[in-house]
Amino acid sequence: MNILILGSGGREHALAWAISQNPKCDNLICAPGNAGMAAVATCLPLDIMDGAAVVAFAQQHHIDFVIIGPEAPLAAGVGDAVRGANILCFGPNADAAQLEASKAFTKEICAACNAPTAAYGHFSDAAAARAYVQTKGAPIVIKADGLAAGKGVIMAMTLPEALAAVDDMFDGQFGNAGTEVVIEEFMTGEEASFFILSDGKNILPIGTAQDHKRAYDGDKGPNTGGMGAYSPAAVMTDAVTQKAMSEIIEPTIAEMARRGTPFQGVLFAGFMVENGQPRLVEYNVRFGDPECQALCIRLGAQMLEVLLACAEGTLDKTQVNWADDHALTIVMAANGYPGDYQKGSVIGGLDCADDDPKAQIFHAGTKEIDGKITANGGRVLNITTRGDTLAEAHERAYALIKKINWPEGFYRKDIGWRAL
Ligand code: AMP
Ligand code: GLY
Repeated sequence: MNILILGSGGREHALAWAISQNPKCDNLICAPGNAGMAAVATCLPLDIMDGAAVVAFAQQHHIDFVIIGPEAPLAAGVGDAVRGANILCFGPNADAAQLEASKAFTKEICAACNAPTAAYGHFSDAAAARAYVQTKGAPIVIKADGLAAGKGVIMAMTLPEALAAVDDMFDGQFGNAGTEVVIEEFMTGEEASFFILSDGKNILPIGTAQDHKRAYDGDKGPNTGGMGAYSPAAVMTDAVTQKAMSEIIEPTIAEMARRGTPFQGVLFAGFMVENGQPRLVEYNVRFGDPECQALCIRLGAQMLEVLLACAEGTLDKTQVNWADDHALTIVMAANGYPGDYQKGSVIGGLDCADDDPKAQIFHAGTKEIDGKITANGGRVLNITTRGDTLAEAHERAYALIKKINWPEGFYRKDIGWRAL
């Protein structure tokens, strides 16, 4: 079959790598893709936010299956357009993508199905929001309702900080994403991510992971898209996973179907786990980046089978064959990220994992210029490994990363520390 993957990050490179190994995949196109994806797929330019353009492109290239990587095209209705043209599609329609695109929507769904989550208020004017903050006190969490590239969450430790965050959001710090604001109880515990596929009705869990959001070692420094991840996440024990499924995931999928907006795609649930009780922090409607890289190296070619079953509505007849293994991914980012950084530096040593079946270098922001791979983004590479234990995967990844020759990049030295 002919497959099109939309996106250009490490997540999409990992998906392309896994899918290209499945014999069902005859032809793989990534749009727009990156320099790493070009090794396993044809990369072509395309405006992935434009549903009509995506449909025309898919028809022109005789695509049988479209996989949508990032959240922005999902929220913009690219999934609706592809499905509307009778092309098999992985990723939810826009109304189901509200589970990521609107925090207030997710809170409403949780309330409707009694899923454990932080207590909250939802506001569209600053005065009411300020009054709520005054009655609740600090610490408290202030969130822009809409998509803000992971930046619209302020954890305010004091009352003045909380009031300032409310004012900043209503003053437009996060643009349209902040015209509505959700204010939440501050939850304590350990965070973990859980990935489940749903075809709208059936549910298939496909693994747990934990990422490292802060830029520097010891969870210090600014928040980023994620500086590394490992899978499985130790905090998601069988008992916690059971509770998460029966109290949060299954009721959410049922509520979405009941409303006539079934969720089809991957639901990436962030939990706060305390005393064995998971509570929902947030949903995303796509794979995590870099969590996806760790899941892909564990699942390999069967990733295509499960994504297809999800799109075809046959998840009840599908299962995942787990090797009892662990995976870890370290992000290499350009010096300065998540602030300002330079593009164009040359990266060497990228063939260091070529002979190791338990390691892959997935590219994120890279570009080939005159036959050389250069840095072209904030997060640039994902050194991804697996092993029988997390310690083994960790050792393999940190041995490999030393062979990458890129002085203009940096990485965290403590990925996986909580579980090691
Ligand atoms: P979100 O974009 O909603 O995932 O929030 C980003 C990060 O903020 C989460 O991964 C948590 O670390 C933290 N966070 C969000 N909501 C809460 C909450 N109610 N209590 C504690 N931490 C939170
Ligand atoms: N790594 C977190 C995310 O993809 O949202």
